[in-house]
Amino acid sequence: MPPIKRLGVLTGGGDAPGLNAVIRAVVKASSNSGMECVGLEDSFDGLIEPGRSHLLTPRDVTGILRLGGTILGTTNRGNPFAYPVTTSDGVRDYSDRVVEMFHQMRLGALVVIGGDGTLAIAHQFHERGIPIVGVPKTIDNDIVGTTNCFGFDTAVDFATDAIDRLHSTAEAHKRILVVEVMGRYAGWIALYAGVAGGADAILIPEIPFDIEVVAERLRERDRWGAKFSIVVVAEGACPKGGERALLEEAHAGRVERLGGIGAQVCDALARATDKETRSVVLGHLQRGGAPTSFDRVLATRFGGKAVELVKRGEFGTMVAFRPPDIVALQLADVVGRTKIVPLDFDLLRTAKALGVTFGD
Ligand code: F6P
Repeated sequence: MPPIKRLGVLTGGGDAPGLNAVIRAVVKASSNSGMECVGLEDSFDGLIEPGRSHLLTPRDVTGILRLGGTILGTTNRGNPFAYPVTTSDGVRDYSDRVVEMFHQMRLGALVVIGGDGTLAIAHQFHERGIPIVGVPKTIDNDIVGTTNCFGFDTAVDFATDAIDRLHSTAEAHKRILVVEVMGRYAGWIALYAGVAGGADAILIPEIPFDIEVVAERLRERDRWGAKFSIVVVAEGACPKGGERALLEEAHAGRVERLGGIGAQVCDALARATDKETRSVVLGHLQRGGAPTSFDRVLATRFGGKAVELVKRGEFGTMVAFRPPDIVALQLADVVGRTKIVPLDFDLLRTAKALGVTFGD
């Protein structure tokens, strides 16, 4: 195989702190290896609409290591196999155009930085003949095969800080404070931030909860003198026999939007405990701001490894963190699956041993 002279890079799905650090690493490492790097705007839109790409040089990425967001822009509505348009059926298949544009732009490979949805699209294009290396991204940390995704550590750090702040006001007012964090299908953020912040109850999508069990745990705290409590709820958590709280149904190529479970838990706990309760939704604050040093290093290692794989012609792969190493996995083994919190995970068992309730 002739050496790759020009590669494209794009970011897809929801943003996560560390995206810019990956872009920077990809641009610098490819440039230092004699390859040109083309930045594609707004996920695969940069390969659908002409004029939505530009050459990236090391000069262009200087100073972006510590910035949140993505200099390339992103979207989670950009699936070229089901692109939202204003026609009667609402979607159109633009995948042929992407393949055509890829060749017209004389790209030899594509580095796709994204979550489960974007990586699944990348895998489809790999099967259509585009040489692709994937880089996993999500604050939810639910991508199979990698111990960490960049963005997760930053989100946990932010949520922990928020819980710390809520602790003092909860204690002052002898209230129950309910904190809703992100985590659509997996409770990694809730579990880690909950433990780091010393929460009394942690509710995650993997364990349907009984509100009475949670309430009894908090009443017990009251009885032995701790008059306040902190409850951390993942947005995807749901009561036993109940439904997840939806803000918006899935439609026109968009996935469903979750939210509202924190407020529901807050109301239910107020009724069950007769205490004052308040709820806070951390929402997109968890995705913004500068990445932690851990995420900067992980993102940089992912970017460097992705370029290594391009140089070696190892396509259809995804870089992954298997401590202490960064390894390459097959995209085919990763996409379409979700890494949820295992019920025998030691952190979960330890939290329970310390008296944290999961409502089960
Ligand atoms: O997958 C990452 C995530 O932040 C989820 O935790 C959350 O449900 C979702 O994205 C929110 O997406 P959007 O920014 O499109 O509302």
